[in-house]
Amino acid sequence: MKNLEEKIIQADSLESLEKVRVELFGKKGLLAAEFSKLKNIPGPEKKAFAEGLNKNKAALQTTFDDRYELLKQEEIEKMLKEEAIDVSLYGTLAQKGALHPVMETMDKIIDYFVALNFSVESGPMVEDDFHNFEALNLPKFHPARDMQDTFYFNDGGLLRTHTSPVQIRTMLETKPPIRMIAPGSVFRRDYDLTHTPMFHQVEGLVVDEKGKVSFANLKSILTDFLHTMFGDVDVRFRPSFFPFTEPSAEVDISCIFCEGKGCRVCSHTGWLEVLGCGIVDPNVFKAVGYEDVSGYAFGLGVERFAMLIHQIPDLRSLFEGDIRLLEQFR
Ligand code: PHE
Repeated sequence: MKNLEEKIIQADSLESLEKVRVELFGKKGLLAAEFSKLKNIPGPEKKAFAEGLNKNKAALQTTFDDRYELLKQEEIEKMLKEEAIDVSLYGTLAQKGALHPVMETMDKIIDYFVALNFSVESGPMVEDDFHNFEALNLPKFHPARDMQDTFYFNDGGLLRTHTSPVQIRTMLETKPPIRMIAPGSVFRRDYDLTHTPMFHQVEGLVVDEKGKVSFANLKSILTDFLHTMFGDVDVRFRPSFFPFTEPSAEVDISCIFCEGKGCRVCSHTGWLEVLGCGIVDPNVFKAVGYEDVSGYAFGLGVERFAMLIHQIPDLRSLFEGDIRLLEQFR
């Protein structure tokens, strides 16, 4: 009896206690074996023997129940400890995205021209020589082709070096008048602080009857556009060269960092170059079969605008995908 109780008390888990239960109380258990002796006990002693057995059984049952309760309690406590959730602790906050500064700037540019009734056109990034160069008055072996370091495919195809081929595609598909912009990615073999092999441009083209589109129109619209983008800056048109425009100009704004006094960003000139533009060269109209029209065109780099607006020093950081950069634009 004593050692049976001992067995129960030594069980240190519900699992081992269950084994003890089968051993003692089971159908083929020790107690069952004791009770089966009853039939061999002579009549007069039967009652006392049975009473003794029942008393022992009841005592063992109590010990067992107590042990069971204790082990059960221990198990529950262990579980509670292991599976505890402290609902008062801070959780990990979900990371919230933001529109990339380049796309945000692009949208702002597009919005400006859409409000002026410009259509938004697009073209393929994999271009051919005709659309990217030839039709833009850049014949083969023209030295100005070197202005744009081109990625070529083996079959003579190329990655467009500017959005100007969309001018050609739009003119070939539609009749004048045209008032369009073409936002999109362009590609050049270039990589440093201010150049990445892929960047974005927005092209603009306006074509109408001869004499209806002048340099004065171009000047006034771009001046207003730059004031919308950069606020109260001085705007200056500087003579330049592009094969597809004549005359051509580059447009500068007074440096927004030093207000024209001269600093590192503007190379101490007080001016920042932000646009290329000009009156569409007659050879371009000839290439697309347009007659008796006049037009102006312009092109700008979206990353350059975004960097100036947000004062981002290294262009490459716009493409590294570091969430810490984007978080600043939420
Ligand atoms: N395509 C020119 C460039 O990429 C920009 C430009 C477009 C200039 C239209 C004049 C007119 O540099």
